[in-house]
Amino acid sequence: MNMGGFTKHFNFSDCDTVELAKQYGTPLYVISEDVIKDRCNEIRTTFLNKYSNTKAAYASKAFLTLAMCKIIEREGLGLDIVSGGELYTALKAEYPTEEIMFHGNNKSWEELELAVKHDVGRIIVDNLYELDILEEIAKQYDKIVNIQFRITPGIEGETHKYIVTGQKDSKFGIPLEPSAIHETVNRVMASPNLELKGFHFHLGSQLFENNIYVKGIEVVTNLMKGLKDQLGLEVAELNVGGGFGIRYTENDHPKPLSYFTDAVVEAIEAECAKHGLSIPTIIIEPGRWVVGEAGVTLYTMGAIKEIPGIRTYASIDGGFPDNPRTALYHAKYEAVVANKFNQEPKMTATIAGKCCETGDILIWDLKTPEIEPGDILAVLSTGAYNFSMASNYNKIPRPAVVLISEGRSNVIVERENYDHLLERDIIPQYLKNK
Ligand code: LLP
Repeated sequence: MNMGGFTKHFNFSDCDTVELAKQYGTPLYVISEDVIKDRCNEIRTTFLNKYSNTKAAYASKAFLTLAMCKIIEREGLGLDIVSGGELYTALKAEYPTEEIMFHGNNKSWEELELAVKHDVGRIIVDNLYELDILEEIAKQYDKIVNIQFRITPGIEGETHKYIVTGQKDSKFGIPLEPSAIHETVNRVMASPNLELKGFHFHLGSQLFENNIYVKGIEVVTNLMKGLKDQLGLEVAELNVGGGFGIRYTENDHPKPLSYFTDAVVEAIEAECAKHGLSIPTIIIEPGRWVVGEAGVTLYTMGAIKEIPGIRTYASIDGGFPDNPRTALYHAKYEAVVANKFNQEPKMTATIAGKCCETGDILIWDLKTPEIEPGDILAVLSTGAYNFSMASNYNKIPRPAVVLISEGRSNVIVERENYDHLLERDIIPQYLKNK
């Protein structure tokens, strides 16, 4: 992460964050296009250009706006989506639909229809109910829809239990029972409207070890071998999902992307050689890894409450509604006092959000310089799953998003105001009569 020079103010990607707070107000999501570009470049050099027959799709659930679609398109990545809303965003940004991969464990008829109508590149079929609906829609539109099957390989990633997904007891994916899968594959092969391109698994998020990807590959290539032997099917694509871990605090030791991608490619090559299979197109789907460290959230400190002998609470003008991850996953963050960046730590403060919710604590026991109301706090690594998971709890308007690039800044999502909060409210007539 580029933290700029050691100035009085905290510079993020060559922008003075205190000036950004002044210009755009707080709370403010700041997203560095420069960091995103660096990440995309690393994907290209260490994976896409290094190995032939590879693809990378950005998992847009991490952070999606119209401008982000434009960046992802320019950087030459595919787009992984999980809902009609994400699809609609991509359509409005005129993102090329053939590069979209549509995930989700309960896609509705309407969502699938929108995807088929717009020729979305791949539908990742999660269950047999979805397969029935999709086949029906494809028939109605007289189209051939390219699909991958999401398999639950029965492997557990080491991460927070709410963000593991590959274990057997999971709501995601088709359980790994070869006979049932063979039957389903047979059915797809017989369908004039569906084309099975490959298999997908996703093991979890914020992972630091590559061995579970290798295990997943072993399981799925075994399945591919059975399909080749029994049905004569050569699987063209293998999608190993996302999940590559990033740095939130000094306790996180993320590895370079190549640590994962080299292992993935080596394992697929080795397993395919062992089973006599041709090597499929290899697909990865990083979300957090692309955008997590590209984000910083700026807050203004307000009430500071010292409970002698116990702790000091410093309250900020945001919290749970713009970053629910600490309450949901006990996620840990680092932060700096942006306007006192070169001052030595003098005290310990617990950063409290403004919600009426005891669990709304962003950071416990942060070492800070002497703080006072009006100081600007910059919380680091908030680019992924913050804006995209924000709510209006306590009727708090959501922050603006500012994109910074080469020292310039542009608003890419406007700050919500109180009118936005009531835009969809309706008072039934009978309640209007006094
Ligand atoms: N592909 C699939 C099918 C996924 O389900 C996910 C994430 C990804 C790719 C991207 O994973 P990433 O590279 O971002 O780790 N809200 C949670 C994270 C949930 C992730 C769900 N699926 C959080 O804030 O940590």
